[in-house]
Amino acid sequence: MTHTRQSWKISTERPVSYDISCCHDLLNPENKALLASNDKTGGKRRFVVVDTNVLNIYGDTIANYFKKNGITAYIHPFEAGEDNKSMPQYLDVLSALENFPINRRNEPIIAIGGGVTTDLVGFVASTWRRGVPHINVPTTLMGYVDAAIGIKTGINFNSNKNRLGCFSPPEQVLLDRSFFTSLPRRDILNGVGEILKLAVVKEPELFFMLERHGSDSINNQFQNSHCEDILNMSVTSMLAELEPNLFETDLARAVDFGHNFSPALEMQTELNLLHGEAVVIDILLSSIISFEKSILSKTDLDRIFSLTLNLGLPLSSHGLEADLLMQSLLERQHHRNGVQCFPVPTSIGACSFVEDITINDITSAVTFFQKWLQESTGLKERKSHEQHSQCR
Ligand SMILES: NC(=O)c1ccc[n+]([C@@H]2O[C@H](COP(=O)([O-])OP(=O)(O)OC[C@H]3O[C@@H](n4cnc5c(N)ncnc54)[C@H](O)[C@@H]3O)[C@@H](O)[C@H]2O)c1
Repeated sequence: MTHTRQSWKISTERPVSYDISCCHDLLNPENKALLASNDKTGGKRRFVVVDTNVLNIYGDTIANYFKKNGITAYIHPFEAGEDNKSMPQYLDVLSALENFPINRRNEPIIAIGGGVTTDLVGFVASTWRRGVPHINVPTTLMGYVDAAIGIKTGINFNSNKNRLGCFSPPEQVLLDRSFFTSLPRRDILNGVGEILKLAVVKEPELFFMLERHGSDSINNQFQNSHCEDILNMSVTSMLAELEPNLFETDLARAVDFGHNFSPALEMQTELNLLHGEAVVIDILLSSIISFEKSILSKTDLDRIFSLTLNLGLPLSSHGLEADLLMQSLLERQHHRNGVQCFPVPTSIGACSFVEDITINDITSAVTFFQKWLQESTGLKERKSHEQHSQCR
């Protein structure tokens, strides 16, 4: 009698390995970093998606780079901004790719731009022919310390942030901070929001560095040696958090701090908040909740508040409706398989997770925040008025 098998099991592991490297003069034709491919058979074409603002400034240099290196590059302009992290833009890039065929392994797609560009292009690459290699070149601080260095790609859908996407490691990430010299101050501060997140829940030393050198670094567009230390510490800390949990098997993630209420705030177009701006407001509300639950001390809460003020991070309590924030948390709860897993700071540079956030906690935190904001802006205005009068 023959036995017919009724079930089979497939089991395999796929290693993930990619380099994240700091580079100088990335667009100098002598610098070959951007041409590298894991597949050494040497394809001669590149599909390069470039943020339109980056293209306006560095377009000729980018075109010249590929030309001088004998590469036929199709440069696809992509207008960034959260509204364009969308299905129509995703399809638009796919259509352009259809018209510029690339080899499946040795001609990686290159994304040059901020987090919106690298998120969307990573998603394009991961779905094109079920996955082709891509290289990230972040040109914003947000991309440098966060968006471009991990493996998450995606687009927004149905007014929900990152609803469609996948885990898709880049082939490599090339970090050149000279791009920040052309970045508007608002976008520098936007990236500082993510650095602050790491500092508050993971890196006391980074917090201290921000207290001492944060303002200078911002004024200096992150170009001097202190800035290099801050950037290095941020990237190292972020990767240390990501690497052991790349596919988010463990849903308790310290780096989700500041990302519980912020998704809903960011998607309210009338609030006009950038990702990092919404994250900073979330950081403060979450820290207040931690204080009100007697987890975080008043001294540490005050330090967090003072740092955000001293760095000049934009703060507003406009649109902070407890219902909206609770809705956002409930959405995050689905993302975390039904549990809140809400990260809160326990002291500067440390965190734990709580499960019992209620709408009352949120209402109380919003009231606390509004009061503090009113007092601190009043104080700031009084101080500058006094300084002004003394000068006259
Ligand atoms: N994948 C992840 O793990 C991850 C992590 C954090 C954030 N993100 C995502 O990143 C996005 C935000 O990224 P962002 O803040 O970089 O936004 P962005 O990509 O929209 O860029 C911000 C602005 O800066 C401009 N710009 C970019 N580089 C420039 C340069 N060198 N000079 C002048 N202007 C320049 C852009 O044109 C844009 O106007 C959000 O969608 C967020 O969800 C993803």
